[in-house]
Amino acid sequence: MSIAVCPGSFDPITLGHLDIVRRTRRMFDVVVVGVARNAAKNALLGPEERVELARAALAADPETADVRVEVVPGLLVDFCRERGAVAVVKGLRGGADFDSELPMALMNRHLTGIETVFVPGEQRYAHVASSLVKDVARYGGPIDDLVPDGVADAVRAALRR
Ligand code: PNS
Repeated sequence: MSIAVCPGSFDPITLGHLDIVRRTRRMFDVVVVGVARNAAKNALLGPEERVELARAALAADPETADVRVEVVPGLLVDFCRERGAVAVVKGLRGGADFDSELPMALMNRHLTGIETVFVPGEQRYAHVASSLVKDVARYGGPIDDLVPDGVADAVRAALRR
């Protein structure tokens, strides 16, 4: 049984993330989405809220209904080892994503030998990034067609807090 971990900040989960998890589930028997902390980013949503939003979105699609969503409490490689994962899977929107992902993939492989598989995302989501979604919402722009149901309201509520 092949197990993959799809890690990310998921702050918030977007339609682009869902596309990548769906593609990953087609390749691996078990997929775990790991909601992790990126030391370079200040999260808007708390980890549990990010987990809940991701769970609801994945459960709504029959292709990803059996995907688990968990918080990554420390190093991603430890999380992967504890779950028996053979690969980390990350989506690529373009070359800039590859440039930022490659050092992490190499570091993770250095730490435990785990491989990272890069999956090209759907072209129509190439502009969809959690950071841009939050920025658009911050200034009152529409984000409802960029994120799963319920996420836009959660982002707007968090921005009001
Ligand atoms: O969605 P992101 O922000 O691009 O995902 C990056 C993330 C959260 C997967 C990465 O920062 C991470 O793995 N964080 C967990 C802590 C860790 O293992 N850091 C070392 C990474 S080489």
